[in-house]
Amino acid sequence: MRFDVITLFPEMVATVADFGITGRAAEQGLYELHTWNPRRWGAGVHQAVDDRPYGGGPGMVMQYAPLAAALTAMRQDDPRPVRVVALTPQGRPLDQAAVRRFAGLPRVALLCGRYEGIDERLLEAEVDEEWSIGDYVLSGGELGAMVLIDACVRLLPGALGHADSATQDSFTGGLLDCPHYTRPEVVAGRGVPAPLLTGHHAQIERWRRREALGRTWERRPDLLAGLNLGPEDAALLDEYRCLRKTSAGGSNSDD
Ligand code: ADE
Repeated sequence: MRFDVITLFPEMVATVADFGITGRAAEQGLYELHTWNPRRWGAGVHQAVDDRPYGGGPGMVMQYAPLAAALTAMRQDDPRPVRVVALTPQGRPLDQAAVRRFAGLPRVALLCGRYEGIDERLLEAEVDEEWSIGDYVLSGGELGAMVLIDACVRLLPGALGHADSATQDSFTGGLLDCPHYTRPEVVAGRGVPAPLLTGHHAQIERWRRREALGRTWERRPDLLAGLNLGPEDAALLDEYRCLRKTSAGGSNSDD
C-alpha cells in the first residue's frame, strides 16, 4: 500500500514509520509513505501557502494553487489512481469500517489542512472524501493522517505478529473488546476471572463474548443499537446484566 501525505509538516507525519507496528511494517515494505510539502510551491520569497479569508474574520486559509501543485507532483511521481482524502473536523467521523476500506486500497493520499482550513474550491476539485478523527479541533490534519495510517497499516497482512490479533480487535465485530489479563494471577488483591484460568477453550470464548457484549452495552450503547444480536448473544448479554445486578458494589468473581 502507498500513502502520500500533503502536509506543511512532513517530518511530523514521517515519524509514524519510525515506531512500533507501523515502523516494522515500513521496514518490511508492507507500505510506502511519501510526503509532499505544498510550501515548495508557495508564492513569493516567503513561499506563502495561505491568505486572509474572503469576508473577513480571524485566521488564514490554505490557498488552492500550492495544494493543487503538490497533488499534481504526487500524481506525476506515481500515475496509478489514488483516492484523495482530506482530514478536517467537517469530515465524517472515522470508524473501523472506513479504515478497513482504506486498507484495501492500493493507494491513498491524505491532505492535511492547517490554519482556519482549506479553500473550498480545492476540496471540491481534488478531494474524494473528508474524514474527521473526532469531534474536537486539532491544529491541523497531520495527527488525523497519522491515525488513519496507523489504523490501516495494522490491518495489512503481515503487519501484526499474531495473525488473529486484528480480527479480535475492538470494533471488528462491531463490539468493544473484552478485558485482558496477564501474570501475576493476583495483583493488588485482584484476581483473574475464573473462566480464563480453566484452559477450557469454549468456556473462555463464551466468557470473552459475554464481556465484550456487556462492555459495549455499558459503554457504547450506540454501537449495540446498530447490531442485530442473535439469540445466543442476546442470552449472553442477559446473563451479563443479571450478574451485574447481583454483584453491584460487590466482587465480580462469578463467572
Ligand atoms: N483537523 C483539525 N481537527 C481535525 C479533526 N478532528 N479530525 C481530522 N482533522 C482535523
